[in-house]
Amino acid sequence: MKTILITGGAGFIGSHVVRLFVNKYPEYNIVNLDKLTYAGNLANLKDLEGKPNYEFVKADIVDSDAMLKLFGERQFDGVIHLAAESHVDRSISNPTEFVFTNVIGTVNLLNAARASWKDQPEGRLFYHISTDEVYGSLSNDGTMFTEETGYDPHSPYSASKASSDHFVRAYHDTFGLPALISNCSNNYGSFQFPEKLIPLFINNICNNKPLPVYGKGENIRDWLWVEDHARAIDVIFHRGKPGETYNIGGHNEWTNIDLIKLMCSIMDRKLGREAGTSEKLITYVKDRAGHDLRYAIDSSKLQKELDWVPSLQFEEGLEKTIDWYLQNEEWLQHVTSGDYQKYYENQYQKR
Ligand code: NAD
Ligand code: DAU
Repeated sequence: MKTILITGGAGFIGSHVVRLFVNKYPEYNIVNLDKLTYAGNLANLKDLEGKPNYEFVKADIVDSDAMLKLFGERQFDGVIHLAAESHVDRSISNPTEFVFTNVIGTVNLLNAARASWKDQPEGRLFYHISTDEVYGSLSNDGTMFTEETGYDPHSPYSASKASSDHFVRAYHDTFGLPALISNCSNNYGSFQFPEKLIPLFINNICNNKPLPVYGKGENIRDWLWVEDHARAIDVIFHRGKPGETYNIGGHNEWTNIDLIKLMCSIMDRKLGREAGTSEKLITYVKDRAGHDLRYAIDSSKLQKELDWVPSLQFEEGLEKTIDWYLQNEEWLQHVTSGDYQKYYENQYQKR
């Protein structure tokens, strides 16, 4: 029976990865380690409570002693590391938090894995989930990020993720730690915290609040359905080669303004509003500092070597996502009111 540690499993992508692994691999013990910051919400994993192969551990990866102790007590066969501060705007207002969690936290996990696996590294894997933002920004010339593109991060968030990627590679090259990395484009789907573009705008449209478009809305992002990302993580965890990097993306580029207009028209239809009503909420605001113009991922290595392809067309995925938020009003309401932070106290601490 394998024991796999997944960090950040109470967050957006992590909750989808935990759910996939717990349900698909009943023969694995899945340990979800999360600090439950503002972005962590155990209600995202309500459906897994009581499953015999699922366990939650509340811990902070910045606490090096706690990480060494945990890895000393438990023999993890693999680590899938997603825990991070993930929001670019927050990294602009508070960069230091990103250094603690994303850089020091990752190094703490690497140290703990190295110490625990020193006698038998074979068959183990440290898998770091990273972002396309480490590659910097593209111009509008059709080029894409490949695994060979040099690192050129611009925001404190992407600088912290680039730094953690470098540490993961350094531990592989210097200490022989079996480790690999994937760099993924923008995810969308259920359980995403409503500070990120798509869920924030769905929530604002529902409540007739302004839609703050940064700059002219001409920035381009490459969107991937979160469950396709989780499937890619599964494939890479099981068949990826230590020392390698894999890009993950949907070949699905949208300017922010085109995406926002599409969301507005879908929402008008779903809410029974006259066409054009939600677009009136669009409000152009001051641009994000250091705003990267364009991201686009070339994921052909993953497609060719590991046979992964995205399963969902964007328009279909966006409809599904909007339906999910409309049908899960209570989840959204708990998250926006802050009530979700009591979930851990109520469900877990009492036990
Ligand atoms: P998220 O913000 O939704 O979740 C992050 C999780 O990490 C939360 O549950 C939070 O409680 C936990 N966490 C934060 N600090 C911690 C700490 N010190 N110790 C333990 N747990 C801590 O993030 P997400 O969007 O799900 O992203 C997950 C990972 O995927 C991140 O590493 C991010 O860089 C990467 N990524 C995200 C995207 C995207 O579009 N969201 C794309 C590519 C890569
Ligand atoms: O590319 C992968 C990255 O995608 C991940 O590594 C990050 O964790 C994730 O947050 C995401 O980063 P972005 O900055 O691209 O996502 P965000 O949803 O914050 O913004 C998407 C685009 O929309 C970006 O160009 C900024 C713009 N935007 C965003 C918000 C929140 C607005 O115009 N208005 C807004 O209010």
